[in-house]
Amino acid sequence: MANNLSHKSFKDFEDIPEMDIFQRAKAHEEYLDYLKVSGYMNYRLLVTSGCGPEVTLEEFGTIRKGSYVSFVCNDYLGFTQHPEIKKAAMAGIEKYGTGAGASPLIGGYFEYHQALEDKLSAFFKRPKGSAIVYTTGYTSNSASLQCLLKKDDIAIVDMAVHASVYEGIQGTTVKRFLHNNLEALERILINVRDKYRTKMVIVDGVYSQDGDMAPLKNILDVTHQYGGVLLVDDAHGIGVIGETGRGAMEYFKVMNQVDIITGTFSKTFSNVGGYVIADPQLIAYLQFQSRQYAFSAAATPAISAVSRAIDLVDEEPFWQKKLWENIDYYRSGLTSLGLDIGTTSSAIIPVKIGDIEKNCEAGKLLLECGIYTNPIMYPAVSLKDARIRMSLMATHTKEHLDKALNAFDYINKKLNIALSI
Ligand SMILES: Cc1ncc(COP(=O)(O)O)c(C=O)c1O
Repeated sequence: MANNLSHKSFKDFEDIPEMDIFQRAKAHEEYLDYLKVSGYMNYRLLVTSGCGPEVTLEEFGTIRKGSYVSFVCNDYLGFTQHPEIKKAAMAGIEKYGTGAGASPLIGGYFEYHQALEDKLSAFFKRPKGSAIVYTTGYTSNSASLQCLLKKDDIAIVDMAVHASVYEGIQGTTVKRFLHNNLEALERILINVRDKYRTKMVIVDGVYSQDGDMAPLKNILDVTHQYGGVLLVDDAHGIGVIGETGRGAMEYFKVMNQVDIITGTFSKTFSNVGGYVIADPQLIAYLQFQSRQYAFSAAATPAISAVSRAIDLVDEEPFWQKKLWENIDYYRSGLTSLGLDIGTTSSAIIPVKIGDIEKNCEAGKLLLECGIYTNPIMYPAVSLKDARIRMSLMATHTKEHLDKALNAFDYINKKLNIALSI
């Protein structure tokens, strides 16, 4: 069985011809068992501590119970454990209770929501009314795109955008262009000129698997040159990139020109939820026309913590500075081991391995060395592009990073994963 399953991925169980849902779930369970027995089950591990650079895992399959240095948390500035942010969450709950009780349109729109919208508009240097808050980063993309783009429109997307974008563009025409390839984007824009009502180009500021940035200035210029609208999802750039942490848009000096910005509260802002920033008329349109906003309960009062987290990006810039010291140290440590970290220029650091089985083995050995990472495989990346993906935090210490570098050195000797020179 193991041989059979070693070349499978979760994607293979999305749909299986002739199998009803119970047969499919049974086949899927066999795959889960295979992963568990092989020591490759790095997914959905039970954490018994808080989110941070060190976490405690429960025993599971071959994984021992205990403390691990963790690189799986996108809490880039370490704000999930910031005392003031915790205090703001508790103050929100103390004042307003634990839930909003309804969707924003029918009784669930509270002053803490409005305060957060205002804070977001100001953070992105836009007029009041430029922000809408969703209950996940995922729906910030999927719900807003589903609402805005219909069949006579077109979404022109970089191949590496997040799954939430793909979900949002199912009801419209879609063209994909090679990752960060400006010529390919321009060719599509020329071909579709005058054929669609709204031509929306959709990119990430920082890409979630390679950690590289989109060349936003050039993308913006070419998009506007051919009458397109640009949407940038900067889930991984905010708090990390740009002089004041306003993301890839700040880095490329295009913050005011990007037509639509989407983002999340689950990374730098250390909570759950997301937002869209756009022209106030478009935001009002989303408030009343976007189904997930209209028919789903509003964010809970704990989201008051996000308003404080936004302030702290400006008030405590040393977290971003410390994060970058860690990124520079870790990147140079990995490259001096001869490992392939691709084109990352953010807090997301991949170690590219290529082969799926070797990648699984590397993830397992890292856990044995006390290092918790995410082995990423198809379909999240292409078949031959498996990698170990890590997120750095400002609160990682040099000892954490050295422990991981020593583990990679050991694994490289065992698996020979370095680039051949
Ligand atoms: C680029 C990007 N956009 C959107 C999301 C969805 O955000 P959330 O997990 O907060 O729903 C993610 C999540 O990892 C992401 O990487």
